[in-house]
Amino acid sequence: RRTPVARQEDGSYVISAYREITDILNDPHLSSDVRNLSRPMPSVEGGATSSFIHMDLPEHDRLRRMATRHFGPPHTPGLVTGLECFLTATVRSLIDDLAGKEQIDVVDDFAFPFPVTVICHLLGVPRENEPRFHLWVNDIMNSIDYDPKTDPKEKLDKGVQARKDLRQCLGELVEQRHGRPGDDLLSRLANDDGPDGQMADADIVATAKLLLIAGHETIVNLITNGMLTLLRHPQVLQRLRDEPDLVVPLVEELLRYEPPVQIIPWRAAYSDITVADTVIPKGSQIMLMLASGSRDPKRFHEPDRFDPDRRDNQHLGFGSGIHLCFGGPLARRETQIALTELVRRLDRPRLVADPPPYRPSPVLRGPIHLDIE
Ligand code: HEM
Repeated sequence: RRTPVARQEDGSYVISAYREITDILNDPHLSSDVRNLSRPMPSVEGGATSSFIHMDLPEHDRLRRMATRHFGPPHTPGLVTGLECFLTATVRSLIDDLAGKEQIDVVDDFAFPFPVTVICHLLGVPRENEPRFHLWVNDIMNSIDYDPKTDPKEKLDKGVQARKDLRQCLGELVEQRHGRPGDDLLSRLANDDGPDGQMADADIVATAKLLLIAGHETIVNLITNGMLTLLRHPQVLQRLRDEPDLVVPLVEELLRYEPPVQIIPWRAAYSDITVADTVIPKGSQIMLMLASGSRDPKRFHEPDRFDPDRRDNQHLGFGSGIHLCFGGPLARRETQIALTELVRRLDRPRLVADPPPYRPSPVLRGPIHLDIE
């Protein structure tokens, strides 16, 4: 409330207001390449910096355009458009497996396996390899929270090994796809002869890995935060049962009210920039508090109220500017289907613990477990 820009003791800057965050995300003087920072920091991939989320123009633009052409909306119909039946069938089969259980964990039993199954399907990972992908993504996600003070080193080692194994397996799959055009993302990228030329194998592997990681825990959290919020707002839950179309504005409101990505921590100033009368020196790390911006009272009326009828809901849940979330349309649709089906199929669900335990991550927000009975 006192200032939209705050300098921290370590020299980094925190930006917390809606307008300033949006301006920065659209400012060409900002870099997403973590090598431009004066001190090391985490990347979305937990160390590797080779995919387009950590690139700047013009390379970012070329790789993102090539991936988008095949992946799908909003720019092209792409693979995501044909997914509706697959998404519904996957959700229904996961819920069928819950039958007879007295208590379920929304995270482990449902939200975790769903998005990784979807990305494997889009990439064209053979079914027999899928269980290994689930394990790798699990180990990578656990290692992102690694805290040397409290966690066994094994947690970190498993994450490092999983990244290596995942990269190797994706590399082999890409190699096999050359000269064998197919209708999955790896085949399409390996055989792309479009206006931007060919994507190098290393870039295809980095892109696939990025999709698996950026498109996983975020959705797990959105679905879990969504169930939690509905259980805390029983009238909205009942409305969703009675008016299934409510799910579209409801998911937008969730992205504003309980966003899975709370902070973008990887921006660096290419040159000195001035934000709200504060000069931020070249090379400084800039942290953008998306969650705070989406609850800025200057931009949103009664920002702390969960209101699926909210109009003009231009939240920051997917960021803004050239790095605007690539998977937004898929994330929205996965979550809409998941919440609709969970609410339709679960009979009088009740939270076992409120609040549930949360992941100890400052960047990604969501419960580790969400037990309901
Ligand atoms: C970028 C959030 C799901 C792929 C981003 C960014 C945010 C975000 C805030 C901006 C990062 C930045 O500016 O540095 C979310 C949330 C999701 C979600 C909240 C789910 C609820 C997905 C899915 C995919 C995906 C399903 C793909 C399958 C990406 C990629 C980028 C990105 C590739 C980088 C885009 C670029 O650098 O041009 N996401 N994401 N995300 N997201 Fe998502």
